[in-house]
Order: sequence, then C-alpha cells, then structure tokens
Amino acid sequence: MEKIDVLLGLQWGDEGKGKVVDVLTPKYDVVARFQGGPNAGHTLEFEGEKYVLRSIPSGIFQGDKINIIGNGVVLAPDLFMEEAQALEKSGHELKSRLHISKKAHLIMPTHRILDQAYEAQKGKNKVGTTGKGIGPTYTDKVSRNGLRVGDILDNFEAKYAAHKARHEQMLRALDFTDYDITEVEKKWFEGIEYLRQFPLVDSEHEINALLKANKSVLCEGAQGTMLDIDFGSYPFVTSSNTICAGACTGLGVGPNKIGDVYGIIKAYCTRVGAGPFPTELFDETGAKIRAIGHEYGAVTGRERRCGWIDLVALKYAIIINGVTKLIMMKSDVLDGFPTVKACVAYKLKNGEVIDYFPYDISDGIEPVYKELPGWNLNLSEVKSEDEFPQTFKDYIAFLEQELETPIAIVSVGPDRAQTIIREK
Ligand code: GDP
Ligand code: IMO
Ligand code: MG
Repeated sequence: MEKIDVLLGLQWGDEGKGKVVDVLTPKYDVVARFQGGPNAGHTLEFEGEKYVLRSIPSGIFQGDKINIIGNGVVLAPDLFMEEAQALEKSGHELKSRLHISKKAHLIMPTHRILDQAYEAQKGKNKVGTTGKGIGPTYTDKVSRNGLRVGDILDNFEAKYAAHKARHEQMLRALDFTDYDITEVEKKWFEGIEYLRQFPLVDSEHEINALLKANKSVLCEGAQGTMLDIDFGSYPFVTSSNTICAGACTGLGVGPNKIGDVYGIIKAYCTRVGAGPFPTELFDETGAKIRAIGHEYGAVTGRERRCGWIDLVALKYAIIINGVTKLIMMKSDVLDGFPTVKACVAYKLKNGEVIDYFPYDISDGIEPVYKELPGWNLNLSEVKSEDEFPQTFKDYIAFLEQELETPIAIVSVGPDRAQTIIREK
C-alpha cells in the first residue's frame, strides 16, 4: 500500500512550502491541504509567472493531479472564489480536479469581524493575526457551533442567519459594533454559489480509497511548527495543528499511513506577527536579510522579522513532526555574508545554558551562536550539488549533523528550476 508523505514548515511559516510542493508534485497522484486557510500565502514561480495560493493546494499547476481541500481546512468562499477565478482566467482548469471536503468549516464574514474584535481587546498583547477569521472559525468548530461546507447543500440561508445572529450578539458583548459587512456578505454568498460548482466530497473516503488503489498523496502544510496551537509559541500561534499529526486529523488518515515527513526550513529564520523570536536581528544584518530575501508577507505585505537559523527550535520541531528529510530554502539569500550564524543553545536569564526548547521562550533568552564561514558565490546560478563551494557544503554538513536529519533538497532561488535535489 502506498504511503502519504507530509510536507510542512518547521519555523514560523513562509519557509517556501508552496514552491517545494510544486516541485515534488510530479512524483504524486494527489496533493492535499489539511489545515489552515487563507491565512496562508504560498508562492510559486515558474516560466516567468508568479502565483500566490491561499486555500488552493500548490499541486494545482502540475498536469491533471487531483488536489484536495481537506476537512481540517477553514474556507472563506469569497476569498476562495477570488483565488480560483484568477487561476481559471490564466487558463488553469480547476472544477474537475479540485475536490473540497464537506467537513471543512466555513469562515463567515462575522468571523473576520470577531478576529478584529478579539485583537482589539487584547491591546498590546495582540497576536498580529492575518485578520482572516481563522481563530474565531476554529473556535466555533471546537465549541460545536461551526458551519461546514456540507451545510450549503441543505437549508443553508437559515443556518447562516442563526450563526450570524450569534456572532452579532458576541460582537455587541465585546462592544465592537462599528462594522458593515453588507458588501462582503454579498460577495460571500456569490462565493457559496461558486463553491457548488466543485466536487464537494467526503475526502476521508476518497483519500483512503486512493491509497488502497496504490495512489500516492502529498500533504501540504500551512503555517509552521512554531505556530502550532499546541507546540508553538503560545499564545502567539495560529489556531490549528500545523504539525504532522494535523495531517491525520485534517484528512482522516491513520498515522500508520504516513511515509516521509519533509521539514521545510529557511537557511535563516523569519516571523511575521507578534510573539517571541529568540534569534531575531534588530540590526543591519536583519535588515539586509529582509531586503535580499524580499521578506514581506505574501498575503498581508507585512514586514517579516528576520534572524539567524535556530537549531534549538528546529530540533524540537523535527521531533514533534517525526521529520525524515529536511529541505533547505533561500540559501542564496545568505550568499553575500562573510560569515553566517546558527543558534546552538539558549542562555536563560539566570545564566543557565540549555540546548532543549523550553516551556517559555518569551523571557530574556539569549541565543548562543556558532559562527561559520560564508560562501562567496552566487548560489542562484548553481545547477548541481557539485558546483556548491566547499564552505556551503560544510554548512550543509554542519546542519545535518546538528539536526541528525539529511537535507534532501536545497533551494537556491524562487523559481521551480532553481532547485537542487541531493537525494539519489
Ligand atoms: P510558504 O508560505 O511556505 O509557501 O512561503 P512564502 O511563499 O510565503 O514565502 C517564501 C518566499 O520565498 C516566496 O516569495 C518564494 O517565492 C521565495 N522563495 C522560495 N524559495 C526560495 C529560494 O530558494 N530563494 C529565494 N531567494 N527565494 C525563495
Ligand atoms: P504560510 O502558510 C507566516 C501568523 C500570523 C500571526 C499568527 C496567527 O504562508 O506559511 P492567524 O491569522 O492564523 O490567526 O494568525 O500566525 N501566520 C503566519 N505567518 N506564514 C503563514 O502562513 C501564517 N499564517 C498565520 O502572522 O502571527
Ligand atoms: Mg507564506
């Protein structure tokens, strides 16, 4: 029986998951999203074109592969319509090969208002969410108040009205009443009609049947391990399980079906939104990484915070996910640096040095760095591993040894073609 491979981010999101899913898709029959929603922004570049996907899996551009939006995803019909219609306009047929789980939860316009209201209420402790209604939608799911894709098939308007009334009451209680969703709601209902044109499926049945028929599936994670609701830097996290286990619950597959777990990392580290980030650089080096790496949010355009790679956090992420292979992105961004640093331990406020990821990283952690020589070569032009300079080979070997996991792929630029596959 074929296995399911899972590809996910090991840092705070935006590691380059979309690009790698697109590169790996030819090896698979099916690509499936299992959590998150339009808070994601997955960028793909090929043949001079650039696409940013939010809810649609990144396997959509490679031939006639089936792409699935699983039950663990939260879907905003208006944003989905916008995204899908843009793809259709550029010649990509979707309706026969993009399947949507009936159990995926719907993000309502009032969820987005609630997202704003909760953020406003948190004041200086706000999470810095993407404002897409992710938290309130998952909250409704868990509190058994959610509205699902399957609900659009029966008596939908009445169900919608009841949910909206409940949200309005909550917003009044929060004293957050200065909003107008008339226009958004109109578009949202157009989105519902548009959604009806897609195969609405029981994706757990579909995926398990495909596996039984020896088909292979690649699961595409959104966000990253450090944003996981259980293991991330809580409460500055997203509201879903971004980790490998999320693929089991978000698609309805048994853990014994999981094959390879690809952990995606940047050669450095970024974070967007609020929350602790031990290796964050506030100096010129951080600004240089941001400028060279174009570190601005794919969805919100927000400046991404930049810092050195954090091996303490990565070791934790590798364990939590059971990562079998690493994929390193954006190595080319560090091309011009005379030396590069990697955090190998944390020095706590009381002076103690630890090499494990602690309960709380918000209080005065000082990173302990190992400094390595840089590589003075334009990696983005490199076509094979043999052309890597020795210092870069040493950097890879150092990471593999520290993280006890092989680096199977090295990405040296945003384009599909700028990808060096190392595993034989
Ligand atoms: P995702 O959310 O994990 O899919 O990542 P994003 O798309 O939000 O952010 C990754 C950004 O880095 C995108 O703009 C990609 O086009 C770009 N990118 C991906 N891989 C590379 C790489 O190896 N080098 C460079 N310079 N850019 C890359
Ligand atoms: P991709 O899939 C980076 C961050 C937000 C915020 C926190 C909670 O492109 O890697 P939410 O809207 O989910 O309630 O916000 O999570 N965040 C991301 N950061 N990449 C993402 O997705 C993110 N999705 C959410 O900035 O700090
Ligand atoms: Mg992104």
